[in-house]
Amino acid sequence: MSAQELAATAAAMVAKGKGILAIDESGATIKKRFDSIALECTEESRRAYRDLLITNPGDRDFISGMILFDETIKQATSAGIAFPQALIAKGIMPGIKVDAGAKELARHPGELVTEGLDGLRERLAKYKALGAKFAKWRAVITIGPGIPSRGCVEANAHALARYAGLCQEAGIVPMVEPEVLMDAENTIDRCYEVTEMTLRTLFNELVAQRVSLEHTILKTNMVVSGKLCKTQAGMAEIAEKTVGCLKRAVPAPIPGIVFLSGGQSGLEATRNLNAMNAGCDLPWPLSFSYGRALQADALKAWGGKAENLAQARKVLLHRERCNGLAAMGKYSQTIEDELAT
Ligand code: 13P
Repeated sequence: MSAQELAATAAAMVAKGKGILAIDESGATIKKRFDSIALECTEESRRAYRDLLITNPGDRDFISGMILFDETIKQATSAGIAFPQALIAKGIMPGIKVDAGAKELARHPGELVTEGLDGLRERLAKYKALGAKFAKWRAVITIGPGIPSRGCVEANAHALARYAGLCQEAGIVPMVEPEVLMDAENTIDRCYEVTEMTLRTLFNELVAQRVSLEHTILKTNMVVSGKLCKTQAGMAEIAEKTVGCLKRAVPAPIPGIVFLSGGQSGLEATRNLNAMNAGCDLPWPLSFSYGRALQADALKAWGGKAENLAQARKVLLHRERCNGLAAMGKYSQTIEDELAT
């Protein structure tokens, strides 16, 4: 793929009013989600659920791409069409999670490093042949007493940069995802500091590995209070601090930034994204690449039952539409309430 094609893919990922639906949960994670609706986790139940998410009519107006898991990219719709082809047919780009998960980092208690570089060149070629246009690699940074350490942040940034280079070599747009977790006791200011340091380290490594920033999408956390922090920052502060932090740490050539939801509710994730787009002057498109925030209500509405399929799809499309509008700063409570009517 030429540089022009990579640029076109990256631009399409963050096209106006569109974002990404992340449905790349690993086997263990999707089992956890299914446990919450008392649904047995089998290859077929996973396929049926992904079918609901992938073949929902009308979503192309708000969704530019979906991130698939290794098993999912090889599965097919109930009508027998390979999932990546079903997406391409409706103008949505298939993406693929390629990391092998976060493992304990040696000599760094409480910290993780994401693995998966071995054999990645060959796997990328296979995913490309299956239709993947972009890929995702998630690094996890934990806040706690004395952490994150330099060793952890640097090891993760280095792996992300090596992955991104291999993606671009394969003609796939890398989505680089350093996630600073939000479930600790830290203040929003501590999240700001750690996010800024993590992003700076990441971009240094990307440059060192000769990754083309013009063809890289950043997926990151919002700057928020830790879930266990006594003082919880509100929407305006989250928007201001997130945008402030990104402006200090993210180079201008990045074609777009998308957020993970990381434990925010569907409503919070939409409102916070909208606040940034409605109220801030931004050098890049800011959009969404949510997993839980887009899926949670739909999963609940579905409950694993065929008779709930239509309602689940309606609920999903509603959240997708709300986030598409939030990516333009045009979301409102009136729009939120439309589902009920
Ligand atoms: P959440 O939005 O559920 O955090 O998931 C997004 C994602 O893809 C994390 O890698």
